[in-house]
Amino acid sequence: MKIILTTHSQQQKVDMLVYGANAPQSTSKTSSKKISLPNTVKLWNSTLYQCIDKEIARLNFSASQGKILSLFVDDTITNYITIAGLGDAKENMTVAWRRAGVSIARKAKDLRAQCIAISLDNTSDNKRNLCALVEGLYLGDYSFDHYRTQDKTPKTLLKSVYIYVNKVSADLKKTISQAEYVGNSVCLTRDLVNLPSCDATPSDLAASAKKIGKYANMTCKIFNEADLKRMKMGGILSVAKGSRQKPNMISLTYSPKGKSNGHIVLVGKGVTFDAGGISIKPSNGMWDMKGDMGGGASVLGTMDAIAKLKPGVKVTGIVACAENMPDGNAFKPGDIIRAKNGKTIEIFSTDAEGRLLLADALCYASELKPDCIIDLATLTGGTLYATGELYSLIMSNSDTLQNKLMTLSKTMDDYLWPLPLVDEYRDGLTSGIADLKNSNAGSKAGTIVAGLFLQEFVDKSIDWAHLDIAGAAFADEKQALSIKGGTGAMVRTLIEFAMTFKT
Ligand code: BES
Ligand code: ZN
Ligand code: ZN
Repeated sequence: MKIILTTHSQQQKVDMLVYGANAPQSTSKTSSKKISLPNTVKLWNSTLYQCIDKEIARLNFSASQGKILSLFVDDTITNYITIAGLGDAKENMTVAWRRAGVSIARKAKDLRAQCIAISLDNTSDNKRNLCALVEGLYLGDYSFDHYRTQDKTPKTLLKSVYIYVNKVSADLKKTISQAEYVGNSVCLTRDLVNLPSCDATPSDLAASAKKIGKYANMTCKIFNEADLKRMKMGGILSVAKGSRQKPNMISLTYSPKGKSNGHIVLVGKGVTFDAGGISIKPSNGMWDMKGDMGGGASVLGTMDAIAKLKPGVKVTGIVACAENMPDGNAFKPGDIIRAKNGKTIEIFSTDAEGRLLLADALCYASELKPDCIIDLATLTGGTLYATGELYSLIMSNSDTLQNKLMTLSKTMDDYLWPLPLVDEYRDGLTSGIADLKNSNAGSKAGTIVAGLFLQEFVDKSIDWAHLDIAGAAFADEKQALSIKGGTGAMVRTLIEFAMTFKT
């Protein structure tokens, strides 16, 4: 997809011309609920304006957020006129424009429109909204069809998108290319999640990280099995014991030019397949476990955008990678393992493996003494019962960090909701013979208990947030911003967090 910024006066003949429209406000005085078309349409073709206007009224098109209407007009400047609903003008217009972008790209696909134009008026060509629109186009255009050999439909139908604004400026052009980086990095995250575990092994993830590490301002280090042994990372090593795939730990670091404005560490769970190990999962709970590296994928996607957007803060992305399989050599319930910080863990369930990998990675992250650590993991199935497929859940030792992420997630349209780290629930992790147990038989508040477990491996003096993305990382059905499969959960929020970070 090529995005071209141009002015209203330089209209091209396109397959589809799009206008954004707010939903009408019904006041007590006006009972009319009709949306109004922009005046530009009237100026360009007044007869057509009247036709479209009548049709909008006849169809009772509401222009609510994400809704879209296309009419075939067969005119000299476009084949289709499309009205993208932006909802109530009092709502968050950034969110509305991102969702409009998704709907526009999806509609273009439906209509096989390869060349489209989006006309922005005064109010909409502000930078934030433009950015969101472009991100939305990428999210809506996304497909995962590398494995199809029969369907001959070209991969990307949407070739060119003209964006008409009042005045083209270098600043707006930069905004668009930045938004393209964000959009692409969410798509990269989705690809990594969608790839089957046979093609996304720990070493494949390391290869993806190395590619990101090639940017000028990045360094990439892959810790292999021997390194992990030397570093006493008993958590990662134990989980990997049952698999033929060797574990590793990826570390990607972005360093800004000049003085850095702090240090953020992102940590991701990279379980490339979670069969549950000896505590094997039933098959209906296993089929989508190729996505159990969703946290790691979000970290890699974020690092990819950071490499290009170059914030003023140092950012390290760590991904602990392993495959959790049952095998004669696998770790077993009742085993006692030792994490990097020396704490001993009695294994109650080998299926509570994510926290074991993260324990080591969080110890390593703490040793870097950053300003904050944010971990992302498809950690507990409980999130799906609590808030379903849309929400990620946040637990944190810092209200400031939690509030910041909550605020950003609203504008970036990542659903995020807080859970408390309830001290009293720590009892669930008590072992009779080791420092901790990795889980217990009771299933109450499993998501919080997992958060409490991770907290044991984070330096108390560092601001830390744990994002359980077990529900949000993988969509079972099409959503407002994503098709079925990997969603790229939290990537936009994390990029924005890094771009706006101040110590
Ligand atoms: N990877 C799973 C969590 C998961 C479940 C992610 C469903 C996405 C969808 C994790 O490793 C796991 O198995 N967690 C267990 C922990 C339990 C054994 C304490 C769970 O949540 O049931
Ligand atoms: Zn598991
Ligand atoms: Zn898992």
